[in-house]
Amino acid sequence: MTDSLAVLILAAGKGTRMKSARPKVLHRIANQSMIQHVIDTVMALKPERVIAVVGPGMDDVADEAGSAEIVIQQEQRGTGDAVASARRLLTGFEGDVLVLYGDTPLIRSMTLGRVLAERRHRNAAVAVVGMRPHDPGAYGRLVVAADGSLEAIIEAADGTPEQRAITLCNSGVMAIDGKELFSLIDAIGTNNSKNEYYLTDIVAIARSRGLACGQIEADAHEVLGVNSRAELAVAESEFQHRLRAKAMANGVTFTAPETVFLSADTTIGRDSVVGPFVVFGPDVTIGEGVEIPAFCHLAGATIGDHAIIGPFARLRPGAVLADNVHIGNFVEVKNSALAEGVKANHLAYIGDSSVGTRTNVGAGTITCNYDGIAKHKTVIGADVFIGTNASLVAPLTIGDGAMIAAGSVITADVPADALALGRGRQVVKKARAKAWRAKAKAGPVKKKPKVKAKAEAAKAKPAAKKSVKKVAKKVIKKAVKKSAKKRR
Ligand code: UD1
Ligand code: MG
Repeated sequence: MTDSLAVLILAAGKGTRMKSARPKVLHRIANQSMIQHVIDTVMALKPERVIAVVGPGMDDVADEAGSAEIVIQQEQRGTGDAVASARRLLTGFEGDVLVLYGDTPLIRSMTLGRVLAERRHRNAAVAVVGMRPHDPGAYGRLVVAADGSLEAIIEAADGTPEQRAITLCNSGVMAIDGKELFSLIDAIGTNNSKNEYYLTDIVAIARSRGLACGQIEADAHEVLGVNSRAELAVAESEFQHRLRAKAMANGVTFTAPETVFLSADTTIGRDSVVGPFVVFGPDVTIGEGVEIPAFCHLAGATIGDHAIIGPFARLRPGAVLADNVHIGNFVEVKNSALAEGVKANHLAYIGDSSVGTRTNVGAGTITCNYDGIAKHKTVIGADVFIGTNASLVAPLTIGDGAMIAAGSVITADVPADALALGRGRQVVKKARAKAWRAKAKAGPVKKKPKVKAKAEAAKAKPAAKKSVKKVAKKVIKKAVKKSAKKRR
């Protein structure tokens, strides 16, 4: 007997019940694909080889399973056929072959260790991980003999009512003696309700050859198979529970753990306190003694010790915050390095920037990093004071100790220790406020009569014109008469 181990991860199934354009095993739990969860878990066993069985055209699954060797199962003819498709890679392999399903992502390495130990202990051809789910539904049933050995696995659709009444189910995880594997696989037929090659049939085949088979029992939550979106949500919830428990065991305080969502790779240092409704996206590392009060969203961020983040802060990929940085409410940081002691306590956007030690970023400060075509960098030195509501138009460099006046739009570099103002000059009108108030208090000016008078004047105008004409006529008449008299 050898201790060497090969792992086969079956992931060629289309997962039709997910109703998705994406292969089932690429759906994510705690921001990590199901197949990656399985790969991470098996790596703890230090296997000699890890082989993932994928379907044709599933290049994205092959990419995701980067560290595994890839085998293509040309046609999905059942789990037995999926194992058979790895024959070329495993011919002559005499160690343990551990078969897992890509859609059973919560399995623990400890359980895998137990099933391997069971197979070796019994010198069994096959040892299976069993479970007792709340609803056995479509799971295969484990038929156990009086002596506790495993006799057969019967798929629910093919079982008798008595067999379906068995509560011990097949999780799908099994350890198989590599020396027996392909001879057992070759004996599988398709005489069943699905006309598929059932891997599960190898148990009855082994027993018929006088070989031993055994089983262990695992917690049903751990070996939950994800076949639908509803089951994906159950797996997510279960895994979140596990991540929170692990973080708390490592010395992190969650005031309302059930409201905090973590990623599989989230790291939080001890004595950090995470308030309610905080979401950790992928790739977040938090130092020790960090406070994250409530309602924050972090992804791709690295945070030093004793920083304070939020409430209501958003840290996006590339946010690197040194020790003692304070980020307050409605502050967004992206692709920026904030040195020790930097404070940005209210309403700011810091993007594509570096900020030196102890610099104070005032409320409403915006790094204008995007000109509609390209992103530009803002370099801010140490001990800089940026007044409220400053727009820093990148590319821009602000030297150490500089001050930026509140309300400024800064478009040119600012040397060290300089004061930069970039805003309209203030105008002061003496006593104007008082005069305005007096006028306002006097009430509105009576505009109506004025308007009426104007209207009347406008009406009167044509009449006046008429009278001018009349007057002119009269004057002409008079003049004509006068000159006539003179001529007489
Ligand atoms: C299987 C088991 C059942 C067990 C259940 C646990 C068989 C016959 N049945 O049923 O006893 O209770 O898992 O979840 O094994 N796959 C391939 N190629 C194929 C078919 C499947 O790679 O041709 C892969 C799938 O991608 C999946 C895994 O094998 O990761 C299981 O396949 P699935 O169709 O989900 O099997 P179940 O019906 O759930
Ligand atoms: Mg399944």
